[in-house]
Amino acid sequence: MTSPRKLHIKSYGCQMNVYDAQRMVDTLAPEGFVETASAEDADFVILNTCHIREKASEKVYSELGRLRTMKEEAARDGRQVNIAVAGCVAQAEGEEIIRRAPVVDIVVGPQSYHHLPQLLDRARRDGRALETEFPVEDKFGFLPAPKPDAIRARGISAFVTVQEGCDKFCTFCVVPYTRGAEVSRPIAKVVDDVKRLVDNGVREITLIGQNVNAYHGEGPDGKSWPLGKLLDHLAGIEGVLRLRYSTSHPLDVDDSLIESHRDNPALMPFVHLPVQSGSDRILAAMNRRHTAAEYLDVIERFRRARQDIAFSSDFIVGFPGETAQDFAATLALVTQIGYAAAYSFKYSPRPGTPAADMQETVSQAEMEERLQRLQHLIDSQQSAFNLAAIGTTVDVLFERGARKEGQIVGRTAFLQPAHVMASPDIIGKILPVHVESLERYSLLGHLATPAYAAQPAESRMTTGA
Ligand code: 5AD
Ligand code: SF4
Repeated sequence: MTSPRKLHIKSYGCQMNVYDAQRMVDTLAPEGFVETASAEDADFVILNTCHIREKASEKVYSELGRLRTMKEEAARDGRQVNIAVAGCVAQAEGEEIIRRAPVVDIVVGPQSYHHLPQLLDRARRDGRALETEFPVEDKFGFLPAPKPDAIRARGISAFVTVQEGCDKFCTFCVVPYTRGAEVSRPIAKVVDDVKRLVDNGVREITLIGQNVNAYHGEGPDGKSWPLGKLLDHLAGIEGVLRLRYSTSHPLDVDDSLIESHRDNPALMPFVHLPVQSGSDRILAAMNRRHTAAEYLDVIERFRRARQDIAFSSDFIVGFPGETAQDFAATLALVTQIGYAAAYSFKYSPRPGTPAADMQETVSQAEMEERLQRLQHLIDSQQSAFNLAAIGTTVDVLFERGARKEGQIVGRTAFLQPAHVMASPDIIGKILPVHVESLERYSLLGHLATPAYAAQPAESRMTTGA
């Protein structure tokens, strides 16, 4: 028997990349690969890249410089190391990577991960291999199911991809180019994945997709099902305690989704709904296809359906043409809505997108200043949201032991980490927690159900179930 070959994947960017990395592990496991945490002792290193912001490709080249040294050292010891670049930088700049970085053996776009074993063979035979086409076949159909052990190692909460790609073409965004047109997986395949996960201990499922609420997979009745109907269907699977989805576009929020938030208790009342800007002028230039008022209407529809619902969002500051007045409109929108969390980014032109041809008008210093102001406002909203939990009792799904001995950590409906002292038996359960204090972003408290609380030995016998 040959000893297992070691695989190291370094992922950048979004949840989709995290999920894809797991699928690459699953694809390569039958070839005898096991995962390793460090690149140094790997036989195969994959950089799973992200292209959405910043000069991500430059980061890739500097990482490749380090890997070249490593590869050369391994070769001196008689060990062959293969290097692959995967993800959206591979998709967008594959040919250039092959030209600029001789250290790279394989370039593979997100549509072709199921071909990794063949690409590895091809690279060994021909020296290099590049695959960045958008195949006509359904890549989802080819990705192997994860092995039970692999699922168990991943814990209580898991992602399931339900759709990929995007047809929205926001002018700043590379996703429609790197991930291609919107494709939804059929209901039956999603259900299979979810059942396999819950059979192996997963209790919380997050449905992911670049524009997840554009979902329109084929249902068992042959009709196209919207996301809300899928979520309701999944809530009926035994063992599914919590459902989430990410990321949504405001225009694709339909009544099925709102109704699911109203009627489906497993669907968590926490929605990531990016708006990017509060200025109608900038929203139009971004091709977001809605105004600030229309976004507020969508928020209102959610709130009417579910009173305790909370939101997070994404913002871009310094989009070409953004004036001080436009930025003020963004601050005003944030103030009006009150987010539980939000992410904000400085605009960065992405080659090949329409906005990259627009004249940039906001200096780096100005962008930095706007980013600081927006982040300060968002931080204060997030703190207020977290502080409001103190003194209340909230449901927590417990996930794992914390660093501190005897402490178990889980998450609230709003993804706030919550720590209690308790027995590990509570992992995988949702239990009420009385919140006492806040430590940075974490809630600290004690179980409101005494049955599971950690007790001193002498008092344990007196505690009823
Ligand atoms: N510049 C800055 N931020 C961007 N995002 C996407 N493209 C860009 C870009 N070119 C941000 C958006 C999006 C999030 C995933 O990344 O806010 O919602
Ligand atoms: Fe990009 Fe999201 Fe716009 Fe699609 S909806 S183009 S993924 S920002």
